[in-house]
Amino acid sequence: MNVAVLLLLGLRLLEAEGRCIFNRTQEHCVCYNLSQENINSITQCLPASVVEFRGGDLEKYVAFPISDPDPSDTVMLDSLLFRKIIFGDLLVPEILLAQVLKFFSYTHVQELVFDNCVFEGRGNWDRMAGQDLPILSLRFHNVTSATLTGREQDFSSLSSFLGALQELSVTASRLASLPCAVGRLFTALRSLDMAQNSLGDESLTSAFCSGAFPQLRALSLQHNNLTSYHSTCESVQLLRELQHLDLSQNKLTADPSSSCQWPLSLRSFNLSDAGLDEVLTPLPPTLEVLDMSFNHLHAVDISLGSLKKLFLSQNLLQAAPPIRNYPLLDTLHLDNNSIMGLPWDEMKNLQDVAAADNPYMCSCSEAGGLQALAAVGRLGQGWPQHYMCHAPPQYRGKLVEDVPVSVLQCNSAAVVVPICIALVLIAGAGAVCLVRSRPGLIRSCRRA
Ligand SMILES: *[C@@H]1O[C@H](CO)[C@@H](O)[C@H](O)[C@H]1NC(C)=O
Ligand SMILES: *[C@@H]1O[C@H](CO)[C@@H](O)[C@H](O)[C@H]1NC(C)=O
Ligand SMILES: *[C@@H]1O[C@H](CO)[C@@H](O)[C@H](O)[C@H]1NC(C)=O
Ligand SMILES: *[C@@H]1O[C@H](CO)[C@@H](O)[C@H](O)[C@H]1NC(C)=O
Ligand SMILES: *[C@@H]1O[C@H](CO)[C@@H](O)[C@H](O)[C@H]1NC(C)=O
Ligand SMILES: *[C@@H]1O[C@H](CO)[C@@H](O)[C@H](O)[C@H]1NC(C)=O
Repeated sequence: MNVAVLLLLGLRLLEAEGRCIFNRTQEHCVCYNLSQENINSITQCLPASVVEFRGGDLEKYVAFPISDPDPSDTVMLDSLLFRKIIFGDLLVPEILLAQVLKFFSYTHVQELVFDNCVFEGRGNWDRMAGQDLPILSLRFHNVTSATLTGREQDFSSLSSFLGALQELSVTASRLASLPCAVGRLFTALRSLDMAQNSLGDESLTSAFCSGAFPQLRALSLQHNNLTSYHSTCESVQLLRELQHLDLSQNKLTADPSSSCQWPLSLRSFNLSDAGLDEVLTPLPPTLEVLDMSFNHLHAVDISLGSLKKLFLSQNLLQAAPPIRNYPLLDTLHLDNNSIMGLPWDEMKNLQDVAAADNPYMCSCSEAGGLQALAAVGRLGQGWPQHYMCHAPPQYRGKLVEDVPVSVLQCNSAAVVVPICIALVLIAGAGAVCLVRSRPGLIRSCRRA
């Protein structure tokens, strides 16, 4: 088995201090300071489906001759259970990676992760030409490498591998551009996560050039350097299959002269914490999920017929959006706004309502509406402690839950009408006489 592990790493490592810890319940094994002498420690990782190598020094193996595995080695690699391998806190010489990557073709590893790694130098990727790998998901988090620009040849050697990938993420890695030719290699990619980088409006235009990422369903550009809503729209316009787009944590402004239309396939759109003072238009017309929380919106008055979930917490709204404009809505979040009262009648069909930390005007009907929603379990976890009355003065600072809303106190009509009827019935023949002498009663009953 040792041979298999060694081959997997592509290294003949020998050194002290390292050790592997296997967690059986999670099928997760972590090896610290991946090295040589204690290589036997890795055997405890053999039942694991996730193996993590943290720390160590790969640089000294750059000159190590690595030959192709012989048939008995490939049988052993094939028998490994590893599904996911994480390399963390490592300096990775690219020349080594280029030689080792091919070994994965004999394994069943589907997910490869590089976390806190520095890629050094340039490798020769020719050996990978035409090589298929079982890897479907490739993740880089907080990695540093030479710029991608000008490396088209390297990437095209990897085209068989990259063309089969389904998920790619490159997060928190100061990525400022993605050449057009690179995107065109990812012909099967479904999900691309580029959160926490430095992508600007212009770099986006080339990244999503014609033919790039033709199958992309989900794209996250969270926390980048995007500023123009419409330029972003124009950049992603060619992604015909795009369903989920996350632009949260960028500072977006509108360019009213643009008439860009978002891909019609878009279902979920995240504009949370995007510096919005108003709802930007156009919105993708067939959205099902829209997140515009953590902005500075004063009003939301939009119509989206297929919308199911609307997140508007942490804004400056004074009223709920017009719920009748969203016939399919089931979730509405309005925490931390400036809303004094809500249209409870329209909201009672929603499955999930959150409206904590608003300055409620605790009239009978308002408090009663909230209490009724809470009673059927529709209010989230903020109830009751985060639902407070702001007015009228006698309830200010009290919990909405504590406002008395009995029939007698809330709805005098409900009390007066039955009394009038009873009176009329009881009085019987005497009613005529009663009415003649006290005409005010009739008027009161009519009013009620
Ligand atoms: C394995 O992981 C589980 C879940 O994270 C944890 O509760 C447990 O303590 C871990 N076991 C060991 C031996 O570390
Ligand atoms: C790994 O090596 C680093 C420095 O080389 C050391 O600080 C760290 O404690 C080692 N970790 C383990 C688990 O041995
Ligand atoms: C990112 O990775 C580098 C090593 O490449 C490490 O020194 C740094 O602490 C990491 N940053 C974070 C936020 O983890
Ligand atoms: C973000 O974009 C602005 C202007 O588009 C530029 O001046 C700034 O340097 C960019 N920041 C980063 C981190 O790339
Ligand atoms: C939108 O993005 C934020 C992070 O910026 C995240 O917390 C939130 O859950 C996302 N919204 C949806 C609906 O996924
Ligand atoms: C409302 O905002 C305050 C201050 O930012 C925060 O402490 C509180 O948790 C928020 N309430 C909800 C329900 O998110």
